[in-house]
Order: sequence, then structure tokens, then C-alpha cells
Amino acid sequence: MSTILELKHLKKNFGQIEVLKDVNLKIEKGEVASIIGPSGSGKSTMLRCINLLEEPTGGDILYHDKSILTKGYDLCQYRSRVGMVFQSFNLFENMTVLENCIIAQVKVHGINRDDASKTALKYLESVGMLDRKDAKPSQLSGGQKQRVAIARALCMNPEVLLFDEPTSALDPQLVGEVLEVMTDLAKSGMTMIVVTHEMDFARDVSNRVCFMDKGVIVEENSPHELFENPKEERTKEFLQRFIK
Ligand SMILES: Nc1ncnc2c1ncn2[C@@H]1O[C@H](COP(=O)(O)OP(=O)(O)O)[C@@H](O)[C@H]1O
Ligand SMILES: [Mg+2]
Repeated sequence: MSTILELKHLKKNFGQIEVLKDVNLKIEKGEVASIIGPSGSGKSTMLRCINLLEEPTGGDILYHDKSILTKGYDLCQYRSRVGMVFQSFNLFENMTVLENCIIAQVKVHGINRDDASKTALKYLESVGMLDRKDAKPSQLSGGQKQRVAIARALCMNPEVLLFDEPTSALDPQLVGEVLEVMTDLAKSGMTMIVVTHEMDFARDVSNRVCFMDKGVIVEENSPHELFENPKEERTKEFLQRFIK
């Protein structure tokens, strides 16, 4: 196994508020790690620090054993290897589905439009959205938008994909189609860090579940151990509220 990402004593403050206190996490290649925990515990902030949408206040982030926070580190390259899928899709509303999947390939990677288009069509097919390639996001359901957002992230050829509650904004009947795409992706060997409240996904698809509370990872284990035999009181309380 090789470690792709490592968070070491990661800290993030917003003014006086310590949101991430001391987060330690290692992600191995091909691993699917689910992050669970109450609202406000710092899950989104952790993901946003990993892809540097937020600047960490302290600690370190290693990518293939090298600190990305070192001066002179190629952040452009790093950002394109670490994809993100947001709760609110963040598609470009004025562009078609296909164009959404092409634009960053051309602008960020300098790929020619024909090749970018081929890649886009391939990933739109893989998420079952090829037939809607000419639609605008406003013409799609939430589940379809999220599948397009996943295809768009895949078009950048990421090594790791971060998901921030990708199904939380969806009507319940649309959650399944997105989880199905994510499950296929996990089976294909993609390395994934998934913040989620979908406990079935965390249990059945991930290799590891991390319970986060108040800015630290309180406990992490295999899904079976964490759900059946949580060791920490805070984990037990949280799980009791979620799992009947
Ligand atoms: N940009 C920000 N400025 C100030 N406080 C923030 C900001 N982003 C998040 N927070 C605060 O950090 C805490 C953790 O937020 P977040 O990481 O979104 O938690 P979670 O994703 O686990 O619900 C919350 O108290 C939130 O209000
Ligand atoms: Mg969040």
C-alpha cells in the first residue's frame, strides 16, 4: 500500500474559533474513507483544507510524502490531482452538461477540445448522463446534476476525489442513483474521501470510517468495527441517533 495523503496535526481557526484542533489522517491508494460526524464538527473545513480552498492554520498536509504547504510546491498540479464534489453541485449554469465537463480540461490542462470532448463523453456515459449532454443544469434533477458533477471531476483525471455530503441536497428518491455511481467508482479503485450521513454507504462501500467531532477525529476503524463496536462514548451517542 502506498500513502497518497496524510494530514498531520492539521489545525484551522476562523478568527478565535478553533474549527480543526488536531486532525490526523492517512489515506492509502485505492482506499475509500467515509467521514461521519455531527454538523459543525469540521468535516467540510477538513476537505476544504485538503484541496486548499482554505489555508490551514497549522500542521501539515503531505501528498505522496511531500508537504504541499512548502514554498514553491506545484499547487496547480496538486489541485488537479485532487478533485472535489460539492453538496450543491457547483455546475456552471450557463453551460451545457458537455461544456461543463470540457471547460476545465481545456483551461487548466491545456487539452485540445476534441480530446477533451472525447473524455467528457466517456465519463458522462459512465455516470449514465450521455443522453443529456446538451442539456443545461437547470433542466436536470438534483441527482442528474450530481452525476454530471462527478463526471466533470473525473474528466480532470484526479488521483483522489473528495465528496462533501454529495447526496444531502437531494430528494430522497434521487439519492440512490448518485450512491450507485459512487459505489461503481469505489469498485473501480478510485481513492475517495467521502463526508456523508449515508450510513449504509459508509458501512457497505468504505474500507474505513472516521468519526469526527469538535475538530478532531475521535475514532476510526473498519466499518464493521466502528458500527458494531464503537469504543468512544461520543461515537456511541452519535451512532445511536443515526442507526436504529
Ligand atoms: N469561513 C468560515 N468562517 C467562519 N466560521 C466558519 C467558516 N467555515 C466554517 N466555519 C465554522 O466552522 C465550524 C465547522 O464547520 P464545517 O466544517 O462546515 O462543519 P461540518 O461540515 O462538519 O458541518 C462551524 O462552527 C462553522 O460555523
Ligand atoms: Mg459540512
